[in-house]
Amino acid sequence: MRASIRTLSLLGSLSATAFAQPVALKVDVAAPGKTISPDLVGIFYEDLSHAADGGLYAELVQNRDFEYSTADRSEWNAQTSWQLVQRDGGRGSFAVEDSTPLNANTPHCAVLTNESPGGQVGLLNEGFDGIAVKAGENYDVSVFARRVSGTGSPVAVRIESKAGVLLGEATLPAPTGIWAKYAARIAVRTTDSDARLVLLTGAQGKLALDMVSLFPEKTFRNRPNGLRADLAQVIADLKPKFMRFPGGCLVHGDGLDNIYHWKDTIGPVEQRKGQRNIWRYHQSKGLGYFEYFQFCEDIGAKPVPVVAAGVCCQNSNFLVTHRYGIGQLGLPMTQMPAYVQDVLDLIEYANGPVTSTWGAKRAAAGHPAPFGLQYLGIGNEDQITPVFRERFKMIYDAVKTKHPEITVIGTVGPNPAGSDYDNGWKIADELHLPMVDEHCYKSPQWFWENLRRYDSYDRSKSKVYLGEWAAFDDKRRSTLRSAISEAAYLTALERNADIVCFASYAPLLAKRDHTDWSPNLIYFTNTEVFPTINYHVQQLFSVNNGDTYLPTTIDDSATPVTFAASCVKNSAQGVVILKLVNGAGSPRPVRIELAGVKKLPATAEITVLAGPDGNAVNDYGSPRTVIPRVSRLPISAAFDYEAPANSLTVVRITP
Ligand code: AHR
Repeated sequence: MRASIRTLSLLGSLSATAFAQPVALKVDVAAPGKTISPDLVGIFYEDLSHAADGGLYAELVQNRDFEYSTADRSEWNAQTSWQLVQRDGGRGSFAVEDSTPLNANTPHCAVLTNESPGGQVGLLNEGFDGIAVKAGENYDVSVFARRVSGTGSPVAVRIESKAGVLLGEATLPAPTGIWAKYAARIAVRTTDSDARLVLLTGAQGKLALDMVSLFPEKTFRNRPNGLRADLAQVIADLKPKFMRFPGGCLVHGDGLDNIYHWKDTIGPVEQRKGQRNIWRYHQSKGLGYFEYFQFCEDIGAKPVPVVAAGVCCQNSNFLVTHRYGIGQLGLPMTQMPAYVQDVLDLIEYANGPVTSTWGAKRAAAGHPAPFGLQYLGIGNEDQITPVFRERFKMIYDAVKTKHPEITVIGTVGPNPAGSDYDNGWKIADELHLPMVDEHCYKSPQWFWENLRRYDSYDRSKSKVYLGEWAAFDDKRRSTLRSAISEAAYLTALERNADIVCFASYAPLLAKRDHTDWSPNLIYFTNTEVFPTINYHVQQLFSVNNGDTYLPTTIDDSATPVTFAASCVKNSAQGVVILKLVNGAGSPRPVRIELAGVKKLPATAEITVLAGPDGNAVNDYGSPRTVIPRVSRLPISAAFDYEAPANSLTVVRITP
């Protein structure tokens, strides 16, 4: 019997439990190992908590198309975020009209009336919590305009501080009587995190405006209609192997009329059809399917789009009914053939030749080469009902027949157990689905208690994509405790990555003061990005991925389980990567044996993410204390290591 000193916490919390009992860890480095998915860690992107508009999508003008309405949010209307400006004796008014729209998809436009000869009348946009601009940087303004009456005059465009101080300006030519796009570049002189965009006309008469847009010149990879560079870079730094988009519940939508249709999101931005976001704001669709595919390509992530299974979210109208599960409706069967065709067209849009109808549209957007789509999700944690089943099968059969090269991912409900999970798996078994999407939001303790979950999964059945998962700690905060439990679970996913091919923490992004859901992986404001401790866990597993799992045994009689480990080989990099997770609130001695090893370096690179306090968070405005720290560790065929309290340690051994 091994000597052990164990102090069990009277409080019963993992972090307060102190252990000094050594763990014996043995890795069979010489074994052939088990082939696993090298793509285990990816990202789940959904436009909730202003992840897209006001977030990753770099557009700085809010409600640029005057399409906000009370349907988006009761206190919103078509003038939200806009104000009338009257200067230099200008007198006038601002109305939103729909008599002569720019196009049917943007039915409303602003009409400015300047009643004063010589005076300035205009519009001011407040942006999304202000407009953040930087000195020395350029900003691209564009607007669709039409002179309705009066003599035309050039339109002055100014970026101003909240107090009206000029930060940069440009002049657009006098609009004609026909809708046309006018654009200019503005050089900004002074940094301001709370600026405004102002457009002014000095001409008496009426001027119609629509799609008023302001983008930083520098977007991620300098893409036009692109993404906010700092935020996109933090995502890229995760080195995600895949990206699931565009959601989440946003995909199946709040009612049948709110299902997300990919075709509404491509083509010129002024022709895209914005819509109410299920998370109770407006989505412009400026960040649409083309931009998603391009972002995936830019960051080296396999695209994993998800389409609705012909049903809307079972929580539709939840705010009205306050009852779960009565909101699911199916598209009428008469509409299903067209819907199925839309799904097939999506595959053609991604992969079809430029000579195909939808491939040509991709090429017209600037990407003649295929995007290399391999995966397609059908459904998002839907309630598994006959209505769902019938529609899912129609879509699945059509995709399978026309595109056998595409791996379809089915859905098994919102929880890792229960009737939707069971019934979803029944469908998966009957239809022999290649993969299913499981969701799992649970406590840190649940993850520690379920490290063996996938060990017993039947390897002959569908593969698993853990499409949404996160540990919910007290108050749903992104604590070190939650992050470490996720690290422990990731060791279990690695061990089972012969069947669990993908896993994505959810959700990815949330804007400060607009958070619809907690916790999230990355928080941001208009000027700052705050990766959580959980972000570092995902990143450490993503960049330290493997293609082979090496047999790893843990001899640890301590209860509850607070130690986990996994070991993978990355053949391309020629490296063996060991991950050790200590969920206890005190250090843990570990005796590590690398069995069968022939050649070893004297030291290995170790990266440690740890902190003494399991409640620690890397929060707004406070120093980010829990970050990965890299050093070197002396190693041999059998060596001792002390895993710090609340820690993830990644050991990279290059034999
Ligand atoms: O990740 C947030 C939400 O959680 C997703 O939209 C939904 O699929 C799940 O319930």
